[in-house]
Amino acid sequence: MNPAASAIRRPLATPPAPASPFPYNSGSLLSVLDLTVDGVSHLLRRATDLENEDPIVRDHILAKRRIALLFYESSTRTRTSFELASKALGADTTLVSSLSSSIEKGESLKDTGLTLRALGAEAIILRHNASGAAWLLEEATRLPVINAGDGMHEHPTQALLDLRTILQHLRPGVSGVGPETLAGVTVMIVGDILHSRVARSNMLLLPRVGARVLLCGPKELLPELAARSGPGIEIERDFEVALAQSQAVMMLRIQAERLAGLQLDLDDYKTGYQLTGQRLAEHAPKAVVLHPGPIIRGMEITAGVADGVQSAILEQVTNGVAIRMAVMERALTAESGAPADRSSSVGRENGGRA
Ligand code: CP
Repeated sequence: MNPAASAIRRPLATPPAPASPFPYNSGSLLSVLDLTVDGVSHLLRRATDLENEDPIVRDHILAKRRIALLFYESSTRTRTSFELASKALGADTTLVSSLSSSIEKGESLKDTGLTLRALGAEAIILRHNASGAAWLLEEATRLPVINAGDGMHEHPTQALLDLRTILQHLRPGVSGVGPETLAGVTVMIVGDILHSRVARSNMLLLPRVGARVLLCGPKELLPELAARSGPGIEIERDFEVALAQSQAVMMLRIQAERLAGLQLDLDDYKTGYQLTGQRLAEHAPKAVVLHPGPIIRGMEITAGVADGVQSAILEQVTNGVAIRMAVMERALTAESGAPADRSSSVGRENGGRA
């Protein structure tokens, strides 16, 4: 055939978008989309192995490796568990917080990152109030960067520890995951979805292991658009109707620091969406209750539910150490500086980096 004619007949198709260069470093974890389902499964299994490992053996895995924790926002669970996890593997850690460092004098994220690298940091765990900050830091330093929460965007290790907690309750004895592991399970996420990096990372992760994600909240905190975030994600505005369908209930804090002028009547919110003992007993008496913390007792959740038998809130905290050990091992034992394994980008190709 005449090549010119075949070129004319070729169907018009949008060429695929060029692959994102991120992550530059195969040890980075910027988004849950950096992990295939197999990669998630491997991390879950390593978390269990490392948790059960003899502490003396474990202490050699990252012996004397240097890890910097760079925190621009306050944190209790994430910071402490990353530090304990890194130390449990033998690493040396240092904390740089925005309130007690030269960040206060105006030093940029890039210069702070380059400074930490010059001081010998081999990986940086970053929490930042700006969405996308972890990508910027990785581009500047080319070190493994672990996103410990970036603005309203992602919190990948929280989603991993949430998944571990859900599996322990709903799939006891299952150590890894596949695309159908949570088939038939509805995980409800309630409240301030709009500002929640925890919700976003869970929405990007849970459907890939078979779960249905049911979002619940008022329009101000849960725009209709959220239902189009990806497959397996739906909205149910009626809290009690949603509860009755759910095997796991993830409550979220109202993020007062991110409301920025948004008018929200907190009494109305409690009437509509507070998880009380009565609601739980009537509509979801067997569901596991999750919350990434910090919890505000008497606001999104009552003290009775937070401390009750269905609550797995403190198990989530404990799981943070095991998951973060696996993540830090991956960060520093992946080929340093090697370009990202393209096979680890399946999720991104399927869903795009959010
Ligand atoms: N879940 C969570 O990120 O808690 P902290 O803000 O205390 O780290």
